[in-house]
Amino acid sequence: MTTQSRILIKGGKVVNEDFSEMADVFIEDGVIRAVGSDLQVAAGTRVIDATDRLVLPGGIDTHSHMELSFMGTTAVDDFQTGTKAAVAGGTTMILDFVIPQKGCSLLEAYERWRATADPKVCCDYSLHMAVTWWDDTVKKEMESLVREKGVNSFKMFMAYKDVFMLRDHELYAAFAQCKEIGAIAQVHAENGDLIAEGAKRMLSLGITGPEGHEMCRPEEVEAEATQRAITIAHAVNCPLYVVHVMSKSAAKVVANARRNGRVVFGEPIAAGLGTDGTHYWHKDWAHAASFVMGPPLRPDPSTPGYLMDLLANDDLSVTGTDNCTFSVCQKALGKDDFTKIPNGVNGVEDRMSVIWEKGVHSGKMDENRFVAVTSTNAAKIFNLYPRKGRIAKGSDADLVIWDPKATRAISAKTHHQAVDYNIFEGMLCHGLPVVTISRGKVVYENGQLFTKPGAGRYIPRTPFAEFVYKRINQREKVGMPSAVCREPYTGEIISVAPNR
Ligand code: URP
Ligand code: ZN
Ligand code: ZN
Ligand code: ZN
Repeated sequence: MTTQSRILIKGGKVVNEDFSEMADVFIEDGVIRAVGSDLQVAAGTRVIDATDRLVLPGGIDTHSHMELSFMGTTAVDDFQTGTKAAVAGGTTMILDFVIPQKGCSLLEAYERWRATADPKVCCDYSLHMAVTWWDDTVKKEMESLVREKGVNSFKMFMAYKDVFMLRDHELYAAFAQCKEIGAIAQVHAENGDLIAEGAKRMLSLGITGPEGHEMCRPEEVEAEATQRAITIAHAVNCPLYVVHVMSKSAAKVVANARRNGRVVFGEPIAAGLGTDGTHYWHKDWAHAASFVMGPPLRPDPSTPGYLMDLLANDDLSVTGTDNCTFSVCQKALGKDDFTKIPNGVNGVEDRMSVIWEKGVHSGKMDENRFVAVTSTNAAKIFNLYPRKGRIAKGSDADLVIWDPKATRAISAKTHHQAVDYNIFEGMLCHGLPVVTISRGKVVYENGQLFTKPGAGRYIPRTPFAEFVYKRINQREKVGMPSAVCREPYTGEIISVAPNR
C-alpha cells in the first residue's frame, strides 16, 4: 500500500508560465518538496508515471457563483458539485463571490458564505466581495474584510439597476477605498440604465425571447461602461480588473488602456472564448435560453477568436468562467420575458480544455502562456503567488497531469456538473486532465473522482499584491498633483450682488 501523502510524479514535462523542463515532482503533506531529476524519496511513496504528459499548476478559476440565489432562484451547482466538476476539469482553486443584498452587512454576508462553502468544497477556494450599495459602514467593512478576513478584491456592478448597481460617485468612492486598503477593484461593466431602457423597448416591440437579451445590451453598452470604469479607477489611481470581458469592443477598450499604461486587467471567460451569441437566435427556446448571461455572448462569430488573440498577447490577462448554472426549468422563469431568464452559464469543468483547444491546439498560445492565463496570472493578481500558480519547491501541491493529445467531446451527458445542459455541447477538445492533485491528494484520476466535501480550505489573501500595486504605489509617490507657487493677486475684484 503506497502512502497518499507522498507522491512522486515521474517522467513528465513540468510547465510553468516562464519555462518548461523535463523534471520529476515530489509532493509530501500537501506541499511540493522538490522538482528535479533523480529525487530521493522515502519507501512507500506513490509513483505516478507522467511520460509524454505535461505537469501543470492546477487551474485557478477567478470567477464563480456556486449556489448563488439570483433572479428568483438558486444556481444548481453548489460548492460541492461545482468544485467536484472543477477538479474533474483540472481546476484546483475557485474564487467565488459573496454578494450581499443592498443595505446588508458585508461581514455578515461573508460569514454566511464561509459557512455555506466550508463544509462542501472539494478544493481550495477564496472569496471576492461585491459592493452593492454605499455608505460609511460599507467603507469600514471593506477595511475589516481586508484586515481580518483575507479578502483583497471587491466587485462593483455597473448593471442590474436597482438591484446591485452603483452610480459613478459611488464607484469613485468604492475604488478610492480599494486603493486605500490595497485591494483590487473589479467591475461588471455594462451601462445599467441603457439596459433597462433597451429591455423596455424590446418588449414593446414584441421581442420576448432570448435574442432580446443581447439586442437590449449591444456591445457599446459594455464598452462604454468599461471605458467609464477605467476612467474612474485612473482618477483615484486604483488598479482595476474587468470581469467577464465578452465583446470585441470592450476588449479593445481594455487593450488600449493597458497600452496607455493603465493598471487594468481583463478577464475573458470560457463561455466567451468557446462559443458565441448566435445561439440566442436558435428556434428552440430552451437551447437559446441556456446561453443567457450578462454581459451576453456576442452574435459576431469572430468574437471568441478575437478574445483568444488578445489573451494570447497579454492584452487580456486571465480567465474565469462566471460559472452560475440554472437548469432549463429555472431558465423557464423567463419563457415569456427574456428579462426574467436567470442569467448564468456553465464553465468551471470545461474551462481548461476549452482554452487548450481554442488557444494552444489552434496555435495561438504556447503551453507556458496557457499556464499563465489559467493559473499563474490569477495567483499574481490576487496575491496567491507563488503558493498557488507555480510548480516549485514550497508551493501548494495543486497540480494537473495533462495529456495534450487525448481528446473528448464535451457533453451534459458526461459532465460532473448538476446543470442539465452544457453550452459547449459536442465540442471536441484536445488536451485533457488525466490526474488532478489538490492539497497533495489525488482527487481525480482517469475519469474517477476521489473528492471529499470539506477537504478544500478557504485561502485568505493579503492586500497590496506586488504584481498589481508596485506601479500604483510609485505613481502615488511621484504623481501627486501640486499647486503652482505664485504671488497673491492684489488687483481689482468685481463686486457680486449677494444671493437673495
Ligand atoms: O450572467 C451572469 N454573469 N450571472 C452571474 C452574475 C454576474 O453578473 O456575474
Ligand atoms: Zn457580473
Ligand atoms: Zn445553438
Ligand atoms: Zn459573475
